[in-house]
Amino acid sequence: MAQLLYIETVGCQMNMLDSEMVVASLRRQGWEITPDIEQADTILFNTCSVRAHAEDKIYSALGKLRLWKEEHPEKVIGVLGCMAQKDQQQIFRRAPFVDLIVGPGQLQQVPELIEQARKGARQLVAVSRDRKDGSLAQIKRSHETFDPLRDPTMRPSPFQAYLRIQIGCDKFCTYCVVPMTRGPEQGRPADEIIEEAQLLADQGCLEITLLGQTVNSYHYQQGDEDWRLADLLEKLHEIEGIRRIKFVTSYPRDMDRRLLQTVHDLPKCSSYLHVPLQSGSDAVLTRMRRGYSVDDYRQMIGRISEILPEAAVASDFIVGFCGETEDEFQLTIDALREFRFKNSFIFKYSEREGTRAMDQLADDVPYDVKQRRNNLLLEIQNEISEQENQRFVGRTMDVLVEGRSKKSLKQGDQGPVFQLVGRTNCDRIVVFDGTERQVGQVLPVKVQDVTHHTLLGSIITEHAGPELYLLGSS
Ligand code: 5AD
Ligand code: SF4
Repeated sequence: MAQLLYIETVGCQMNMLDSEMVVASLRRQGWEITPDIEQADTILFNTCSVRAHAEDKIYSALGKLRLWKEEHPEKVIGVLGCMAQKDQQQIFRRAPFVDLIVGPGQLQQVPELIEQARKGARQLVAVSRDRKDGSLAQIKRSHETFDPLRDPTMRPSPFQAYLRIQIGCDKFCTYCVVPMTRGPEQGRPADEIIEEAQLLADQGCLEITLLGQTVNSYHYQQGDEDWRLADLLEKLHEIEGIRRIKFVTSYPRDMDRRLLQTVHDLPKCSSYLHVPLQSGSDAVLTRMRRGYSVDDYRQMIGRISEILPEAAVASDFIVGFCGETEDEFQLTIDALREFRFKNSFIFKYSEREGTRAMDQLADDVPYDVKQRRNNLLLEIQNEISEQENQRFVGRTMDVLVEGRSKKSLKQGDQGPVFQLVGRTNCDRIVVFDGTERQVGQVLPVKVQDVTHHTLLGSIITEHAGPELYLLGSS
């Protein structure tokens, strides 16, 4: 009988992709996935270290497995990803019954490590070198990934895929643990990326999302050719079958004119840009060492408005960062109102071991103040999102149908009708009625109503068939 794997993934899209790869490699060896943790032969947690809350949840989930593991010592428990890299052996102190600790750069070893654990080996650790442990080349090599091994059946949807183009980060924002857990910034070789995109297209994938911590800083030197994100987009755009290309997450200072012009000129490129501002106060940005001022960001927004007037820009914010005063927070509110983001991800500052902020700055904003600032910013963002969405009422948008929404099935004249959910080229979520057959198509949907989060519409049936319908408008 096949071995059963239970895997839980938290964190960013990088982690989703990492889990896809781990599952793909185990499936190739005959493993099957189970949604039932009790039934599993191996339990893996793919973890995130960006905020303490994400780690606490994993420790609590591990705690619940203590007795289960005592009763079933032959079963294997593994902690993968950023928390494994950051805490390493420390995890055994809190959960000594864990069998495997595997960093993001060692995930290709998971099947072999599980095998060893099944044969009785205990407390196995495979992690990358620390940022000061060896030459840059050695450190970089220890963080490399194993992306080319893909398995279409393991993607969240058969027609959408993530494609990693960059590993690690060298920006060292003072609050952030990523440069330590994911290692030095490295662009993946352009030909590998193009080959992988071609493979995805051959597997029926319509939309690819290019991933990198600072994806628009991508560069790769191949002989005397210097590849940038714009060059990659041009090449990927030529691949038949791929209809939409997105990239996340961008870094404000590297959002240059050439990249924006390329996104404008290539109709398959999504006009969605996720470029975190983090704070609207120059003093806070300096303490965060983000490397730009609010005015630099304003100029970037100016370039976007000029070259890509239809673009939807999204941001991240951290509230309650070390020493953030009411006046500084007010400047963040002002910036939010000025830049009118499509949406923002808002986080309460969480002190992280190994970061400069933890070493040099006091985490002195009380939790309830962080919470209040978080709520207020979210409230303002929701108002803005709803107002921005109102502009689309009456317009027809191209929607890539992703699947059924959580709402129940209705009986229509010509068979069952579902509530479907999809996304526009500018990454807005759209909900409408349709049939199962329409999943995976790009269809014209007329928007009738909106909330801050969603556009509500209906499919335009008198339009040319989906095969003839070209992408382009957002
Ligand atoms: N505390 C809170 N939020 C953080 N982020 C990164 N590090 C921290 C931290 N220590 C947020 C940033 C980043 C997003 C992925 O997570 O806003 O853009
Ligand atoms: Fe973290 Fe800053 Fe790198 Fe983003 S750019 S991953 S916030 S260090």
